[in-house]
Amino acid sequence: TSFPKGFPEGFLWGGATAANQIEGAWNVDGKGLSTAEVVQKAANRRELTLDGVTQASIQTAVADTGDRLYPKRRGIDFYHHYKEDIALFAEMGFKVYRFSIAWSRIFPDGDEAEPNEAGLAFYDRVLDELEHYGIQPLITLSHYEMPLALTEKYNGWAGREVIADFNRFTEVLFKRYKGRVRYWLTFNEINSGTWGFHETGAVDQGLPEDQQLQIRYQALHHQFVASAIATKQLHEIDPKAKIGSMLARMQTYAKTPDPLDVRAAQLEDEKNLFFTDVQARGVYPEYMNRYFAEHEIKIDMADNDEQILAQNPVDFLSFSYYMTTVTSHADQGDSLGNLAIGGRNPYLKASDWGWQIDPVGLRISLNEMWDRYRKPLFVVENGLGAVDQLEADGHVHDNYRIDYLRAHIQQMKEAVKDGVDLMGYTMWGPIDLISFSTSEMSKRYGFIYVDQDDEGNGSLKRYKKDSFFWYKKVIASNGDDL
Ligand code: BG6
Repeated sequence: TSFPKGFPEGFLWGGATAANQIEGAWNVDGKGLSTAEVVQKAANRRELTLDGVTQASIQTAVADTGDRLYPKRRGIDFYHHYKEDIALFAEMGFKVYRFSIAWSRIFPDGDEAEPNEAGLAFYDRVLDELEHYGIQPLITLSHYEMPLALTEKYNGWAGREVIADFNRFTEVLFKRYKGRVRYWLTFNEINSGTWGFHETGAVDQGLPEDQQLQIRYQALHHQFVASAIATKQLHEIDPKAKIGSMLARMQTYAKTPDPLDVRAAQLEDEKNLFFTDVQARGVYPEYMNRYFAEHEIKIDMADNDEQILAQNPVDFLSFSYYMTTVTSHADQGDSLGNLAIGGRNPYLKASDWGWQIDPVGLRISLNEMWDRYRKPLFVVENGLGAVDQLEADGHVHDNYRIDYLRAHIQQMKEAVKDGVDLMGYTMWGPIDLISFSTSEMSKRYGFIYVDQDDEGNGSLKRYKKDSFFWYKKVIASNGDDL
């Protein structure tokens, strides 16, 4: 018997970004205001403003026509630099580029009858450029933003009406890009909808926790249905194209071999995998019935929702992978990093933002997910946010980033040798961009340095970091030369 010795032929190497973190040009060519553009930048690294959005903070944001406090309005001006940026991706040898389409460019208020042609024209140009270099697009339909008007009208995804609006948007895209886009993703890190506004577009600050959970899981149900309808649309419109789910995979370990800790970790894991369970298997798993009952959550379903879910599972599963956590039955763990709640693992080091670095955990996650679903997997985010130093000679010596990525790619290769069906790897943030969680510019992920500081000062000039040349070598050798 034999097993794979390395990455398969045609493995999709590349990078991933999101519209609201790179494009800028937030108020041109007919674009509407999006939910990401009313989130204020954090006052410091440990503060999270994403989900603290209230009706009052939205009003303040709408009245503010600048981008100083709202860095996602300016991004890194990819809108006007896309040619230069894609040329740099091509120079590294990218096979695939994952990016998202801003819904508010296409339907500025979310519910117009006709799309905004100028918005579509921008993405036509991006696709032209990718085709010029033979880079496959992998498009996320919803990456942490939606037209703000839908928050005002329906409280975002909490309102069932949004399903139809979203699927009008997806139908426009599938028809227009038929034959040009082979890979699509529906909702970025769909599980993070349990944290609130940034994913659901629903304002729920100040409510008791169970009521918040009610709103969030109901909003997520609407997303599951919208995702299944999008899957159906795509399969009918463009039968050769494939569509996947996207999970923020948060592998949890038991703090000790105490069976109570192991069970606590299993429960945490179920709450994470619930989302892919629904999207890959097409049914709500039984274990959530108990969780919902214990939190007095009641999911309101329309008559044929269950049928739509069952008939339209996703074709492949994608996930982001940054860190792992530790669970014990005795406590909820320490607060860790910006996003994750979990205990510290004494065997792991953390990034400057407290994210615990765990390459082996990636191999574990890949094996578990392949085993559980038997559907192709795609790692669509992984990377290291770090403070970089641009030297006077224009170099950035980011060997720490190379070390991080190398270790993860090595473990990914082990998973492929274990037999996991892996389609590709798009590291997060091939070019420095605005941080999702804190809106900092100085939390950098890129192979390409962008001259802009946290206040928005800088020439926006692009520089190749040391990791740029390293990744080029990795791709050219299909992951052999690490
Ligand atoms: C993921 C998101 O959570 O992590 C990205 O899908 C985000 O949008 C990435 O940028 C890294 O997070 P941050 O907060 O460091 O930008």
